[in-house]
Amino acid sequence: MQKREPASGIPGAGHSRNFTQYSGLQGFSTGGRYFFLGAPLCRLSFLEHTAWAAANIIGVSGPAISPPISASKTRPLLVPMLDLNRQYEPLRAELLDAISHVIDKQQFILGEAVDGLERAAAEHLGVAYAVGCSSGTDALWLALAAAGIGSGISPSRSRPVHQSPVGAVVTTPFSFFASVSAILRAGAAPLLADIDPVTFNLSPGAVEAVLNGPRGAAVRAILPVHLFGQCADFSSGFGRGRGLIVIEDAAQAWGAEWQGVKAGGLGDAAAFSFYPTKNLSAAGDAGMVTTNSEGVAERVRMLRQHGMRRRYLHDELGWNARMDGIQGAILSVKLKYIARWNQARRAAAGHYHALFAAAGLAESGPYPQHGVVLPREAAGSWHVWHQYVIRTARRDALREFLTARGIGSEVYYPIPLHMQKALRGLGYAEGDFPEAERAACEVLALPIFPELRADEQQAVVTAVAEFLS
Ligand SMILES: Cc1ncc(COP(=O)(O)O)c(C=O)c1O
Repeated sequence: MQKREPASGIPGAGHSRNFTQYSGLQGFSTGGRYFFLGAPLCRLSFLEHTAWAAANIIGVSGPAISPPISASKTRPLLVPMLDLNRQYEPLRAELLDAISHVIDKQQFILGEAVDGLERAAAEHLGVAYAVGCSSGTDALWLALAAAGIGSGISPSRSRPVHQSPVGAVVTTPFSFFASVSAILRAGAAPLLADIDPVTFNLSPGAVEAVLNGPRGAAVRAILPVHLFGQCADFSSGFGRGRGLIVIEDAAQAWGAEWQGVKAGGLGDAAAFSFYPTKNLSAAGDAGMVTTNSEGVAERVRMLRQHGMRRRYLHDELGWNARMDGIQGAILSVKLKYIARWNQARRAAAGHYHALFAAAGLAESGPYPQHGVVLPREAAGSWHVWHQYVIRTARRDALREFLTARGIGSEVYYPIPLHMQKALRGLGYAEGDFPEAERAACEVLALPIFPELRADEQQAVVTAVAEFLS
């Protein structure tokens, strides 16, 4: 499969250089995030980081079908972190037909295919409006800007962009970089609150503490992330009772629910990513904003094409953040299958739970002792298992062991956002968010995707058991 160049694919959860990813089967990479981290956090050496990068950033296109388990004594079962070929093969004709339609019509940007996707997506999520755009990162920025958060980029506003931030947005330090960078791009100040150690999502109590703290008065919005496919705990409403705006980062959570309401309809607006490794994925970059507000939807439509309401009449400074027609067509096909795929992910998660329990490895947590802490579905939540993330004390050694066995794994996220070089200006330091920092040292994502086979899951758990024995 095609390899992405370092500059074009900064990783978030589920990002990898190619999308049939086995671990550690090729040599070293010179590009990759791990080299820049310095990483005092988990006391990792440069060489360990290099090994991580080699195992993750370089994948190989492996066979869609692994050898049968009976052959595993002589040829161990290789288990990819993700194998998109298995999703693509049965849909090949349908997808190519949808792509041909766009090309026949020569409607490459927005157009009928994107319109159709937007209607179907809104219906699927039970929201009034869905607006397609170029990526999850742009969706976050569009949602924030359209909801009036930050300085905006309009010179007609009181402060021009990148001057002092206007208002603050509370979010998590344990997410992909875009959750915070989008707030900065919108011209607001990110304020971080620690996570819940069980769900890895923003802790409502920690958010409350920020709201009641010295900078609480500046807060205009909360940006909870539905990490790994599980909705953040919305029982507190995240400050909506206080008139705060809530923007969901739903990049990893298409179809997830909180108390029967789907992600995308829980806040004032939400941002989705269709990056190729996401549970609903495009064949390139794409994203979407959802909202129940007509005004927000209309503003997102305007901002995604340079602030134009009418052709060549620019009311505001927007951005080029449009969705390609081909992505709209591909996503419209895949949307028909996403409910089934999410069910398959849930079944795979249940199977992992059972296998780990049967192996006597599951610990009651929240922190690991000698075994593994399994991920949990919170009460009221309908998890879509975009990732299956265990906690284990000897995470890095386990990862090396799995890599040597040809079993894929990933670390989301090795360095919390407050410790990223690019975000030093936020003024936080190591020790400020102990739960996020501890999670960064203990989390390990294991292979999970709808087509993952039971024998592959058994091979993963057997290898973990062997390591821990
Ligand atoms: C939590 C989260 N937010 C935002 C993004 C950004 O999405 P994209 O890569 O489509 O720009 C991602 C993607 O990795 C993500 O995982």
